[in-house]
Amino acid sequence: MHNDLIRKLKENRDLPDAELAALLQTDEYDEALREAADGVRRARYGDEVYVRGLIEFTNYCKNDCYYCGIRAGNRAAERYRLTPGQILDCCAAGYELGFRTFVLQGGEDPYFTDGRLCRIVSAIRETYPDCAVTLSVGERSRASYEALFRAGADRYLLRHETADGTHYGRLHPPEMSLENRKRCLFDLKEIGYQVGAGFMVGSPYQTTENIVEDLRFLQALQPDMIGVGPYLVHKQTPFAEMQNGPLDLTLRILSILRLTFPYVLLPATTALGTLHPMGRELGLKAGANVVMPNLSPTDVRKKYELYENKICTGDEAAECRRCLEQRVKAVGYRVVTDRGDVKR
Ligand code: 5AD
Ligand code: FES
Repeated sequence: MHNDLIRKLKENRDLPDAELAALLQTDEYDEALREAADGVRRARYGDEVYVRGLIEFTNYCKNDCYYCGIRAGNRAAERYRLTPGQILDCCAAGYELGFRTFVLQGGEDPYFTDGRLCRIVSAIRETYPDCAVTLSVGERSRASYEALFRAGADRYLLRHETADGTHYGRLHPPEMSLENRKRCLFDLKEIGYQVGAGFMVGSPYQTTENIVEDLRFLQALQPDMIGVGPYLVHKQTPFAEMQNGPLDLTLRILSILRLTFPYVLLPATTALGTLHPMGRELGLKAGANVVMPNLSPTDVRKKYELYENKICTGDEAAECRRCLEQRVKAVGYRVVTDRGDVKR
């Protein structure tokens, strides 16, 4: 019965909700699912793995998401902001190491007005015309997204977190809404960004039905990138007593995503590597084709703590790049120096 489901998914046919739920709930066919996903990934992207240089440039955040370690309410978090010069230094080091995509990620920090952020984006755009500039700075106005696009940003990552309104309300304070999140994602797409959405696996109160809903939302949005990793506990949040998301389910979802969206750019996330020492390798084998090592200065790495025990916080960018290259090679893939644009 499940092999039949996998075949249907592989032929890129839509599964009804009940069949998707059944696939999400059994571990019996994980190997078949993994092999099918890897086949689809290799047909489209070969053995190439794209690297994104992640620059975590501010951990100030005005939001108070219940799961996140850098939430405004966490008074114990030591806050920092990188200067434009420091950000450009990260890019320079990254370029030398073969990165052709820079991801500027930060909390929702009001200090970074459109003017300030646009100046940083234009500077990167002018210095590295052959690179993609990705932003991951949360919810902003449509006008702001337009200005940043004009300044030279190509891509935008904004996980929807959960496509179910009730679940969204249990993960976020009342000032935040799923409606605005979705508005942002559709605005970004209309403006012309390559867009990434996504969610955490095993976030508190998540049900199988919620995950099916997430897949439906992604089918409606048709994003170029999908960021999915396990939820991981952070003690200085209201979810201190919750549990980490499960490894098996995360891998199963990566495979289902690869089969459902053959073209998608799918990272093996740092959270997955934090959950399990071979997490990222397992993620690649399950269908992921992107890794996003950290280019931030080592002295701030630990401070960008969305969850506990984050990996690679002590390693220089160059070490991390080398380490990753070996890890990727060890499981039969190859890190390439490329912008790594989506192959639709
Ligand atoms: N565990 C795992 N992922 C998290 N994120 C935020 N907090 C956590 C956590 N505790 C994810 C969110 C966010 C992305 C930048 O990191 O999905 O969109
Ligand atoms: Fe960062 Fe291994 S990938 S040190």
